[in-house]
Amino acid sequence: MKPADVACFKIWFNEYSRNFVLDDREGQKNIDLKIEHTFRVCSLILRIAEGEAADSHETLLAETAALFHDLGRFPQYRQYRTFRDSLSINHGRLGAEVLRQEHVLDHLPEEEQAAILNAVQFHNAFAIPERNSEGQLRLLRMVRDADKLDIWRIFLGFYEGAQAGIPSEAGMGLPDLPTYSDEVLKNIERGHTASMAHLRTLNDFKLMLMSWAYDLNFITSIRLLAEQDYINRLSALLPRDEVLDQTRTSLLLYVRDRLAG
Ligand SMILES: [Fe+2]
Repeated sequence: MKPADVACFKIWFNEYSRNFVLDDREGQKNIDLKIEHTFRVCSLILRIAEGEAADSHETLLAETAALFHDLGRFPQYRQYRTFRDSLSINHGRLGAEVLRQEHVLDHLPEEEQAAILNAVQFHNAFAIPERNSEGQLRLLRMVRDADKLDIWRIFLGFYEGAQAGIPSEAGMGLPDLPTYSDEVLKNIERGHTASMAHLRTLNDFKLMLMSWAYDLNFITSIRLLAEQDYINRLSALLPRDEVLDQTRTSLLLYVRDRLAG
């Protein structure tokens, strides 16, 4: 793969996403959210690649995988009007399908195609599939980290500020109730990420975002998380109680320990 390939892929992405312009304002806001997210994930993955000493070839693959990771979001939203996979379709698998159907990657060596398709298909999987080769695994891990780092940024950008004008799917359409679910908390207490399937309220979503710290793969990503103080900032958006305070402390300690090596 050459730098010119990535430039062509960006042109293709812009044309593809332009097909999903919607008549209604709300729908368009949700589509725009994913376009902006895509390019931010591209920037973040370059920072991770640099921090993890990726060579130029791996960096090109990483940027391409980031560019295409959420391709499935566009047809998903057009058909189902939601970003919740559990209510619609697995957007990772759908994105890989779009790349195949549209023959976007056909001119690349097979190995590169396989690595990119794998990263797109499994970027949103709860657990990483074991059958990955070492190179595929590293690419997939980079995409997963960059994706999380930008979702934290987006969410806080909306919910720390004025609450007006937030795209309906920024919080997965979950109701903003004062409660949170035991099931979500239990997972986090065990040191696991919370599952999307257990989310009932917006607070659950905030907790799940905090729990993603446990799923970061690279020290560069942990540094970026700590730099932005995402755990404390998300925690500040939750109700104040002792249980949640304990959750925040555990996550902060985890991050501190990872940084200390
Ligand atoms: Fe995604």
